[in-house]
Amino acid sequence: MSEVRSPVESDIMAHYSRAAGHIGLIRLANPPVNALSSAVRHDLCRALERASADTGAKAIVLCGENGLFCGGADILEFSKKTGGPALVPLINAIEAGEKPVVAAIEGVALGGGLEMALGCHYRIAHCQARLGLPEVMLGLLPGAGGTQRLPRLIGFPAALELITTGRHVSAEEALTLGLVDQVTDGDVQEAAVKFAQRVADEPLASRRLSTWKPPCPADLDTLLQGALGRLQSRARGALAPVACVHALQAATLPFAQGIEKEQELMATLFSSPQARAMQYCFFSQRIVGKWSLAGRANWKNTPVRTVHRAAVVGLGTMGRGITVTLVRAGIPTVAMEMDRGQLQAAQQAVTAMLEREATKQKRSLDSYLQLVQFTLERRHLQDVDLVIEAVYEDLALKKRLFSELCAVCRPDAILCTNTSGLDVDVIAGTTRRPEVVVGMHFFAPAHVMKLLEVVRGPRSSPVAVATVVHLGKLLGKVSVVVGNSPGFVGNRLLKPYMEQANFLLEEGATPEQVDGTLEEFGFAMGIFRMSDLSGLDVGWRVRRESGLTGPAVRPEESPRHRLGCRYCPLADLLCERGRLGQKTGQGWYLYEGPEGRKALPDPWLHGFLDEYRRQHALKPRRIDQQEVLERCLYALANEGFRVLEEGVAAGPEDIDTIYVLGYGWPAHMGGPMYHVATVGLSAVLTRLEHFHRAHPDVPQLQPSALLRHLVAQGSPPISKWRELVRVQRSQL
Ligand code: CAA
Ligand code: NAI
Repeated sequence: MSEVRSPVESDIMAHYSRAAGHIGLIRLANPPVNALSSAVRHDLCRALERASADTGAKAIVLCGENGLFCGGADILEFSKKTGGPALVPLINAIEAGEKPVVAAIEGVALGGGLEMALGCHYRIAHCQARLGLPEVMLGLLPGAGGTQRLPRLIGFPAALELITTGRHVSAEEALTLGLVDQVTDGDVQEAAVKFAQRVADEPLASRRLSTWKPPCPADLDTLLQGALGRLQSRARGALAPVACVHALQAATLPFAQGIEKEQELMATLFSSPQARAMQYCFFSQRIVGKWSLAGRANWKNTPVRTVHRAAVVGLGTMGRGITVTLVRAGIPTVAMEMDRGQLQAAQQAVTAMLEREATKQKRSLDSYLQLVQFTLERRHLQDVDLVIEAVYEDLALKKRLFSELCAVCRPDAILCTNTSGLDVDVIAGTTRRPEVVVGMHFFAPAHVMKLLEVVRGPRSSPVAVATVVHLGKLLGKVSVVVGNSPGFVGNRLLKPYMEQANFLLEEGATPEQVDGTLEEFGFAMGIFRMSDLSGLDVGWRVRRESGLTGPAVRPEESPRHRLGCRYCPLADLLCERGRLGQKTGQGWYLYEGPEGRKALPDPWLHGFLDEYRRQHALKPRRIDQQEVLERCLYALANEGFRVLEEGVAAGPEDIDTIYVLGYGWPAHMGGPMYHVATVGLSAVLTRLEHFHRAHPDVPQLQPSALLRHLVAQGSPPISKWRELVRVQRSQL
């Protein structure tokens, strides 16, 4: 072994002991998730040696301490040079052993943890356990035999789906798939010991998955081609899903050859920038959970109120999804609308959504419906612990509603607004209890998207923030605490990004060209296709209200300038012509009809752009992909630096999490802040300076003070930025 380990018992990370009835018991002990660090692998080898040498033990149970089997390889060690035995031979040794090994799975068996369980001869799971091979989410593939053993055990199509999506399955589904041999709702270790006693004398040869015949479905090529097509449209440019498919293809070879191919593909992924970016995303999503506010309140020391009963007010696009999310998490919910017609429509839509959930979760629709109370009456809000307001984006309406909520709800009820960008403090100011008001910004569709921006107004109390973050976790969301700035973080950064895309059209680009470049970069959808999907009228309404367009504009003002800054009226002109995007069948693209989904290039739009440029004496030029990316993405990240400077977000990880989970930024590119750190801050600064010189009337291209400061500091790594910005003023 390459390292010397302390012999102190409490340091040992895989304990060997004897259970009842001649069964050896190996317990992994590496909190919090029993990750297979080099020390764990070392101790596991020792424990296996002891178990096989123990003549009193006829079979072995492998389990984890603290209610959890194993969360896989230790991701923290990926960036370090560590020793210890490799996982593949270790798993091979478990499988090749002469005594049956039963994996007792509770909590989770993920990644290398599940691969280890696949090396065992039997698997028993607790009914609440989750199993999966999520390596693809880290830019990797299951590189400890998972791509070879899983398809042998559960068949090619199911293995392909699990490995390329990284989806976790429940114990019940695992049993149906044949991934586990038994599910118990009792003590899984006890069940595994009993099971081990039963199989102790059974022949083992047929239990070694590596000896099973390679799966060779007749329609293998079709399966693989279909998977590759789907993966490339879902995560364009991502290497890991494609490598997963190739590794699975190698499962049709004899085991040793398949493993060789798996290792080869894993080696390429392991050192790839994409894997580093995705691992950064993994840790970022954990860092954002450790929020702290000005003063001493933080995620550790702030009490959380339990939400026994919630309410959603306004059941349109967002309110419906939010209701489903609450009900799915088992929280009784009052769902309120303003009139009977809207209530009926919402009730129908929510019921249909819950019906789909019930089918997916194999539950009865009634078990969900009994948790929702549809109502028009305010008095039903009297006993709720938390309200989420999702009425129209209209400040006057929201102010009125919050003063009513304050009158009707319990004094300790937390009052949340799902506004996409209005001032949370102004809304809070209409109540007598601004401390209970917090922004709870969901993303559409609210029952699908994992992101929640938790907006802390200057008067929101730490308990209110902590309660909302905690609720977010119960709802399966990743909560990012942000300050109360117009558009918060996500929508604030979207503005300069969208503006640059619009300016590029004025200068000679087409929507297809801009979108094509962004999609090649990895976005699921370019900015113009995305705007068509959300509806061009959303931004138009905001611009009208803020006086950028519409009757408030003075006739003598240039259509291409507002308050001395460059302005692009193209989107307004489309809206004025009734081209609102997919909903009207026309926007930046042409659709087959209203609500059509397929975006087709629109010759009318091209003519309209030509005419517009002629009218404004704009000489179109050829714009290359590099410029499209730099203008759009650097402007976005530049605003990200401003958000950090102002303390609206606590660190780059917060911004990147928001963009990856809420705005379709490709996870394999880390996020906007990670991207500019990878390009090099100094190079980004030079390009922004260049663009700002060329477009002096675009303030968003002016490099932010923080970017300059970081470059002056020698461009410290992104992991250090959080510390550096902490010294500045915080709005959190
Ligand atoms: N390695 C190192 N640290 C890990 C880890 C891992 N595999 N899994 C979780 N952690 C850490 C987290 O970073 C977090 O640390 P901090 O408290 O310092 O922030 C802590 O464990 C708790 O994690 P969560 O906050 O995520 O806790 P949770 O209860 O919400 O979720 C979990 C637990 C489901 C296991 C989740 O952490 C998870 O999904 N982990 C990753 C699992 C995974 O991807 N495994 C595959 C690893 S790659 C592999 O195994 C390669 C191979 O084939 C050889
Ligand atoms: P929507 O127009 O689909 O629904 C609003 C609903 O509120 C309607 O059903 C309306 O009948 C109801 N309503 C209005 N006044 C009411 C009152 N006094 N009492 C009870 N119900 C009332 O709007 P949408 O899109 O769901 O947006 C709601 C909020 O969520 C807005 O603040 C919006 O900015 C925000 N948001 C919207 C997103 C989106 O993609 N649509 C994304 C994130 C936030």
